[in-house]
Amino acid sequence: MRILVIGGGAREHALCWSLAKSSDAGEIYCAPGNPGIAEVADCLPVSSGEIVELADFAEKLRIDLTVVGPEVPLSLGIADLFAKRELPIFGPSRLAAQIETSKVFAKEFFGRHGIPTAAAEVCSSADEVRAAVDRLGYPTVLKADGLAGGKGVLIVESAHDMKRALGLFFGERVFGAAGDRVLVEEFLHGHEASFLAICDGEVALPLPTARDYKTLYDGDRGPNTGGMGGHSPAGVLDAEGSSRALREIVWPTLRGLAQEGRPFRGVLYAGVMVTDLGPKVLEFNARFGDPETEVILPRVATDMAAVLSAALSHGELERFSPLEVKAEVCAGVVLCASGYPGVTVSGKVISGLTEAARVPGVEIFQGNTQQDGDRLLTGGGRIMVATATAPSLADAIARAYEAAEKIQFEGKHFRRDIGAAGLNRV
Ligand code: AMP
Ligand code: GLY
Repeated sequence: MRILVIGGGAREHALCWSLAKSSDAGEIYCAPGNPGIAEVADCLPVSSGEIVELADFAEKLRIDLTVVGPEVPLSLGIADLFAKRELPIFGPSRLAAQIETSKVFAKEFFGRHGIPTAAAEVCSSADEVRAAVDRLGYPTVLKADGLAGGKGVLIVESAHDMKRALGLFFGERVFGAAGDRVLVEEFLHGHEASFLAICDGEVALPLPTARDYKTLYDGDRGPNTGGMGGHSPAGVLDAEGSSRALREIVWPTLRGLAQEGRPFRGVLYAGVMVTDLGPKVLEFNARFGDPETEVILPRVATDMAAVLSAALSHGELERFSPLEVKAEVCAGVVLCASGYPGVTVSGKVISGLTEAARVPGVEIFQGNTQQDGDRLLTGGGRIMVATATAPSLADAIARAYEAAEKIQFEGKHFRRDIGAAGLNRV
């Protein structure tokens, strides 16, 4: 099987690493990839947004399975284009991906299909937002309708926060057109989990659960980022909770999307809040999570290339249910460039990778790195994820941090409390 993975971050590194272990895997390509991915795949010089060029490559290289990492090519209709050209692709159509790319669409969809979620109002002006917040009270949550790289959610706790948030949405317009409509949402209390399932349009095959640590600072404080670390399992969803998330959230979503003419083939990722009343969905993503994928895939024993290609044929996916999952726990710590999630510098020399990779159970997945001769340099933002598997969460965390400490680059920073939420619950 000839495989093409689209994207160039730590999630795609984990995907290529996992797919390369498949007994059926032949040549693996990644576009654009990164220096870490280059160790397991051939990197193609095409960015993930150039969907026509990607289809041309897939055709020329006779790719049997294309796997899409990021949301942007999905929002541009990469799956529709590949389907038109009869190229096999694992990822949802543009219309199905709206479950992620429009929070307003998603919220209205939840209403139509009785899927448990936070109450919300859709607003298009600062006055409408103020009126909605008056009704819902503090704390409340403001969400940009469109894609905002995981940064379009603001928790508003006071009139002061509110003024700042309105300035960002309607004054500075930091989210651009993605912030034209704003969802004002009831604040839910509980514990968060990421619940991902591989879908073929009809059947959902759950992956192991995970917990993502989204905010910049320890103790879940500070601005939201693309993810600072995580672990699998999530630690907050027991078998009953997982089964409810599947029955009450994932299945009705998959069915509803099919009924509305948007059958979903790809990874349906529910961000779930486990509340006293049961699991409620905070958001859906239409793809593998990052950094969830980096901590989920090391635990999956089933051949992922076989699973993902089964999702492309009718009636094949069920054969793999349930996925074989290792009993070990996996934790991952994201190492960032200084300034992240704001403007970051790049070009700093990275060292210590070999020593870090020698820590038992450790896999390092590279995100934004650059090769410069025989030097590995930072490319800004999230540089890499140090993951570790171990029999217990405490051991997995300790190993991941041991590896994280051994990797050096100027300005490196990371959260020190990855796993705390899971440890408190286990
Ligand atoms: P989202 O991108 O929608 O997952 O939101 C990012 C983060 O904001 C989530 O992981 C939660 O921590 C928080 N969040 C989003 N919606 C809510 C809500 N309705 N209540 C409480 N926290 C929320
Ligand atoms: N971990 C959050 C995301 O992938 O969007």
